[in-house]
Amino acid sequence: MEPEESAETARLLQSFERRFLAARTLRSFPWQSLEEKLRTSSDSELLLDILQKTVKHPVCIRHPPSVKYTQSFLLELIKKHEVVHAEPLDELYEALAEVLTTEEPTQCHRSYVLPSGDSVTLSESTAIVSHGTTGLVTWDAALYLAEWAIENPAAFRHRTVLELGSGAGLTGVVICKTCHPRAYIFSDCHSRVLKQLRGNVLLNGLPLEPEATADSESPLVTVAQLDWDEAAVPQLSAFQPDIVIAADVLYCPEVTLALVGVLQRLSACQRDQVPDVYVACTMRNPETWQLFTTELGRAAIRWEAVPPHSQKLFPYEEHSEMAVLRLML
Ligand SMILES: C[S@@+](CC[C@H](N)C(=O)[O-])C[C@H]1O[C@@H](n2cnc3c(N)ncnc32)[C@H](O)[C@@H]1O
Repeated sequence: MEPEESAETARLLQSFERRFLAARTLRSFPWQSLEEKLRTSSDSELLLDILQKTVKHPVCIRHPPSVKYTQSFLLELIKKHEVVHAEPLDELYEALAEVLTTEEPTQCHRSYVLPSGDSVTLSESTAIVSHGTTGLVTWDAALYLAEWAIENPAAFRHRTVLELGSGAGLTGVVICKTCHPRAYIFSDCHSRVLKQLRGNVLLNGLPLEPEATADSESPLVTVAQLDWDEAAVPQLSAFQPDIVIAADVLYCPEVTLALVGVLQRLSACQRDQVPDVYVACTMRNPETWQLFTTELGRAAIRWEAVPPHSQKLFPYEEHSEMAVLRLML
C-alpha cells in the first residue's frame, strides 16, 4: 500500500473503530467512502482490518457490545462486501455465526476511544428505560458534555467537581481520565443506578474512596446517593464543589423543579465562592425548556449558552438541538 493510501485507510479505520466501539446506530458510518475503498481494493485486506479493529478489537472481546448491534454491524459489512466482491468472505460469516447464537443479555458494554487513545467502557442496560429509571444508559447530552469538557479541561483542572444525576457515568469517567480534577463526586438518587455507576467507575480503573488516596495523578473519586428532592443542607454543605455539572436532567417538570431547587440550596450552603454550573441539555420539549428558564428567572439564576465545542468525537443523534448552559448562581 502507498504511504498516502495507507494514511487514508488508517483514518477511515480509526473513524470506524471509534464509531463502532461507541455507536448505537449505523447511520453515521462513512459507508459511501467504504464502498469506494472496497471497489478499488482487490483483496479482502481492508475488511479484515476493519473486522480486527471493530468486532475483534480487544476492548470488544473483553467487554462485548450489544448482540443486536454487533449483528447489524456485521450484516451491513457483509452487504457492502457482496456488492463489490462475488466471493463471500469467510471471516465475516464466522463472526456473524458467533453472534447469531448468542442471546442478548440485559446488560451490554459501550466503549469509546478518547483522543489520547485511551478507552472508556461502560456497562449499561440494553433497554433505554428499565427498573423505573432512565439512568442505566448513556444519553446523548452526556457525550456532548464530555466532548465539551475535553476541549475545556481548564474548567476542571485541580478542582472539585460535583455531578448531579450521573447515570451510567460516561461524562465523569471521561473528565477524570482527561481533565485532571482534584476530586470528582458522581451522584444519583436511584439505588440500581448507583450500583452500576460504582461498577463503571471501577471498570475504568478509577479508585473509589475510601481506597483512593490523594495524589497528583488521579482524582479522589466518590459516588454519592443524592436526591435533589430530599438533599438537605448538611449533606449539601459537605460537598463544597468548585464546579457542578449535569447532563440530560431536564426531561420532565418534576425533575426540572427539583434541579433548580437543589442548585439554590447548594449555592446557599457554599462556604467560599459559589460554584460554576454547567448543564448539558437536549432540547426535546419546548414546555420543559420554558419551565426551566422561568424557574431560573424566579430563582434569580442567570444563564447563557456556552460557545459550542468544535470537535465531534462521539456518535450521537443530531436531530435534537443540544447545548451546554452556564448558570450563574
Ligand atoms: C436521563 S438520565 C441522564 C443520566 C446521565 N447524566 C446521562 O446523560 O447519560 C437522568 C438521571 O437523573 C437522575 N435523577 C432524576 N431525578 C433525580 C433526582 N430527583 N435526584 C437525583 N437524581 C435524579 C436519574 O436517576 C438519572 O440517572
